[in-house]
Amino acid sequence: MTTATLLLLLLCYIVNVSCVSLPPKVFDVIAYGAVNDGTGDNVKAFSAAWKDACQYGGRGRVVIPRGVYALGSVIFTGYCKGTMSFIINGSLRAPTDRRFYDTDTWIGFRYVEYLTIKGGGYLDGQGHVAWRYNDCSTNSKCSRLPTSLRLDFVRNSQIHHLRSIDSKNAHFNIFACHNITISNVRLDAPAESPNTDGIHIGSSADIRILDSTIRTGDDCVSMVSGSRGVEIANVHCGPGHGISIGSLGRGHSEQPVTGITVRNTTFVATDNGVRIKTWAPSETTSASNIIFQDINMIAVANPILIDQVYCPSGNCLEAQSNVEIRDVLFKNIWGTSSSEVAVKLQCSRTRPCRDVKLVDIYLTYRGPRGKSRAVCVNALGSSSGTQIPSGCL
Ligand SMILES: *[C@@H]1O[C@H](CO)[C@@H](O)[C@H](O)[C@H]1NC(C)=O
Ligand SMILES: *[C@@H]1O[C@H](CO)[C@@H](O)[C@H](O)[C@H]1NC(C)=O
Ligand SMILES: *[C@@H]1O[C@H](CO)[C@@H](O)[C@H](O)[C@H]1NC(C)=O
Repeated sequence: MTTATLLLLLLCYIVNVSCVSLPPKVFDVIAYGAVNDGTGDNVKAFSAAWKDACQYGGRGRVVIPRGVYALGSVIFTGYCKGTMSFIINGSLRAPTDRRFYDTDTWIGFRYVEYLTIKGGGYLDGQGHVAWRYNDCSTNSKCSRLPTSLRLDFVRNSQIHHLRSIDSKNAHFNIFACHNITISNVRLDAPAESPNTDGIHIGSSADIRILDSTIRTGDDCVSMVSGSRGVEIANVHCGPGHGISIGSLGRGHSEQPVTGITVRNTTFVATDNGVRIKTWAPSETTSASNIIFQDINMIAVANPILIDQVYCPSGNCLEAQSNVEIRDVLFKNIWGTSSSEVAVKLQCSRTRPCRDVKLVDIYLTYRGPRGKSRAVCVNALGSSSGTQIPSGCL
């Protein structure tokens, strides 16, 4: 390399653009010794392919061709010299042995920028062998159980055309990430599988979840402390527990959750539709600037729910939540409720919800307990347009 090229590279590095146009280069895991017949363990081969692609400098494409790949727990780490693609055409299969149940990650990406994960392939978490060990509520020595895909400290990246089935724990976890688009993914686990959240987001900003189907045993999407600027659109959710903000307020120094939009989304036979959930008692934090709009509920148990008295132990009757909820719009939400309370806004006595708006709500209930009802406790705001059940704000 000449001094001039080196200087140019240094300049590119400083201003963070890739001005060197190296052509994209394929790093095929088969060439690194991966076997695609479902035997062995491909961690070494995948890691070696990732490492070379990461050092390459142009767009490094790690390619996983068709076939079944047994894969243990693995973390792909940056920062990389160029942009990265991780193309999964095959099916990756998680281990089933007990030793693996105590790791928290099956496949992780850390400290990566400009990463694209795609390819139409599968992450098969083999959760059916592990779900019965999800007993942390009764067993203090319980296994942690791995999340199938974790992004930690990843920026400006995308995941599209990917399927995840039978995760042992959550399908995807997004932590400390910025500007991530997840689209055209399909996440599947049985309705009765425990804690199989679809996409769990925390401490992250500018996250989009678009054009996807999530059928699972826990929340389709959950957003906790420090989730900012999350857009969810054109999603099918169900079975599952719905799309949740929370639980909030359990930990110390939680960051606010703000700027969340869920629109054009269908919920089918879920426990909840759109929900904000906070602990009582709780630490102080807030959830604000939230829009739930253009949403179809089909046989959903709690279509619209703010629950500020979340207390699984059941012995906190008088405790109040210190999580402040404000600026929440529920607009154009229609369909059927499978319980008679279709709208429930149960806010904190010490910090009532403020500026909650219900606009054009049409949620019916057909059943022995009569018509659908709305229940509001400590909720301040307004309702306008159609209101079935009749508004309680
Ligand atoms: C991977 O699949 C995509 C579409 O699903 C296809 O365009 C591409 O050629 C495939 N690549 C390999 C290496 O099989
Ligand atoms: C967000 O990430 C995408 C790549 O996924 C990139 O093209 C875009 O420029 C990024 N946006 C910002 C504001 O950096
Ligand atoms: C709403 O979402 C469905 C898929 O869930 C999609 O087909 C449709 O185009 C979306 N409509 C708008 C207006 O985005």
